[in-house]
Amino acid sequence: MKIYSRYAKKYWYSFLLGPFFMVLEACGEFILPYINANIIDKGVAKGDVNYIINNGIIMALLAIAMMITGILGANFSIRGSSRLAAGVRADVFRQIQKLSFENIDDFTTGSLITRITNDITQIQNFAQTLLRGMFRSPVMLIGALIMSFSMNMKLAAIIFLVVPFLALAIFIIIKTASPRYGKMQKAIDGLNNSVGETITNEKVIKSFVREDYEIKKFAKINDELVEKSTSALKVMLFMQPISAFAVNATTLAVVWFAGRPIMIGDMEIGTLTAFITYLSQVLTALNFLANIVLQGTRAAASHRRIVEVMNAKIDLNDDMAQCKDKTVDRGEIEFCSVNFRYFKNNKDNVLENINVHINAGELVGIIGSTGSGKTTLVSLIPRLYDADQGEVLIDGINVKDYAIESLREKVAVVLQKNTLFSGTVAENLRWGNENATDEELVEVAKIAQADSFIQGFPLGYESDIGRGGANLSGGQKQRLCIARALLKKPKIIILDDSTSAVDTVTDASIRKAFREQLGDTTKIIIAQRITSVSDADKIIVLDEGKIVGVGTHNELIKSCMTYQEIYYSQKDKEE
Ligand SMILES: Nc1ncnc2c1ncn2[C@@H]1O[C@H](COP(=O)(O)OP(=O)(O)OP(=O)(O)O)[C@@H](O)[C@H]1O
Ligand SMILES: [Mg+2]
Repeated sequence: MKIYSRYAKKYWYSFLLGPFFMVLEACGEFILPYINANIIDKGVAKGDVNYIINNGIIMALLAIAMMITGILGANFSIRGSSRLAAGVRADVFRQIQKLSFENIDDFTTGSLITRITNDITQIQNFAQTLLRGMFRSPVMLIGALIMSFSMNMKLAAIIFLVVPFLALAIFIIIKTASPRYGKMQKAIDGLNNSVGETITNEKVIKSFVREDYEIKKFAKINDELVEKSTSALKVMLFMQPISAFAVNATTLAVVWFAGRPIMIGDMEIGTLTAFITYLSQVLTALNFLANIVLQGTRAAASHRRIVEVMNAKIDLNDDMAQCKDKTVDRGEIEFCSVNFRYFKNNKDNVLENINVHINAGELVGIIGSTGSGKTTLVSLIPRLYDADQGEVLIDGINVKDYAIESLREKVAVVLQKNTLFSGTVAENLRWGNENATDEELVEVAKIAQADSFIQGFPLGYESDIGRGGANLSGGQKQRLCIARALLKKPKIIILDDSTSAVDTVTDASIRKAFREQLGDTTKIIIAQRITSVSDADKIIVLDEGKIVGVGTHNELIKSCMTYQEIYYSQKDKEE
């Protein structure tokens, strides 16, 4: 609840003024029927025109005042609730930024999207209803009860027959709907996951002509949502006919029992009209309170999902870091008996007993068949994941002992599946360092062999690259990603298969520039092509999560079977 109270305090005036104006409006609600009754009984019945006019003017003024207070009340309630939602949304977003890869894998992206949008909207709707009704409805309820009891005790008692009936209905509805809301939100997660995956991969779907398959898959998920939301929401809608029935039954009972007193002159018509209005106000107030409870049930399901994110145990943090003030200043890397697996209850390790030492400033190649663990191995350096056993040291300090931000500041990774964002070339490069000068942009682009093609664009560095870099070729994208990483001026740069779409000549030029201009940066290059790593100071050969060879090209070609296999298979293809 703390996440909400913070914003309720921050926007206290809306949280105070909203209910305040709604209560003022409610006061008008029970004065109006009273004046109305007097007009009928004292004015109309006795033909007193002045009385009618005077009281009519009061009624009109009151109606205007009620409209103004009603509008103000609604306005503040909406403001308060949307500010509250915005605040919570910002908090959840901040928390999502802190989540580790593992946390995100656990929640799934679609679910995180639902939680930060739909679930928070449920909270917002509830807050809005609450602000509008939490004081207004009780005030209306009590006020209308007092008014009706003061008019006619016996008739007013009819209301107590209806209340238990309504209470029972609400109880059953809440009991039934509550678990169904959780399921409904889960179905929305599924939908968001599917939409996200399909839209980001639209090109693949089109090239495999799998549209029909995706449409069918989506229809199934969509049907599931229909089923879950119908099952939850229909229960809620029962409330409306039930309370309408309660109002009608009460009115009927009142008219029935009022017949006699009216005939013998004990009660006047105007009083009866007012009385019926008060009773329906009592029921409306009860109905609104019921609505608050029902919406609260729905919001509670969403609240639980938001809290899950806010309280997610971020397994990858730097709370226990011993050397938070240290930065990576040389770039020497050491893996000591490292074991790692993605699913902690899996039997087999993805990385098994990794021991390797990389000197500061070295150019190191990593090679191995697909799925051998190359990406996983380098992910442990900037702590995208944490080793399960053993230690990863940089400059002799365990990576877990650096502040995560300062560690990642100095270790740049060009991920295998990298992303660019809509905007210009320069904007994308400045992701690496927002304060970089134009000269620095050109400098890194030259190293990444990107400058010449960027200069070829009509607007050069100010050219728009389209959504996700849609206007660029695969190799151009890769080179921009490398330049972006270099702009961080890292002490360690890791290229995970980042030149796979670049021709061999350009690939060699990148490595040459790396060697000549990044002398004191440690360079780790993962590649499929042996030519991409053969001139490295050291090559690490991975096979099924184990290191099966470390050395130069000439050493490995003599001693490492796996390396030989890769070498000859690629050589054969060339010939
Ligand atoms: N996020 C993940 N969750 C679970 N398992 C994963 C994940 N990423 C990789 N794996 C598994 O870990 C193993 C090693 O994968 P990794 O991505 O490190 O291989 P790789 O050598 O980089 O392969 P490639 O050359 O195809 O990029 C594979 O068996 C893969 O299925
Ligand atoms: Mg990989």
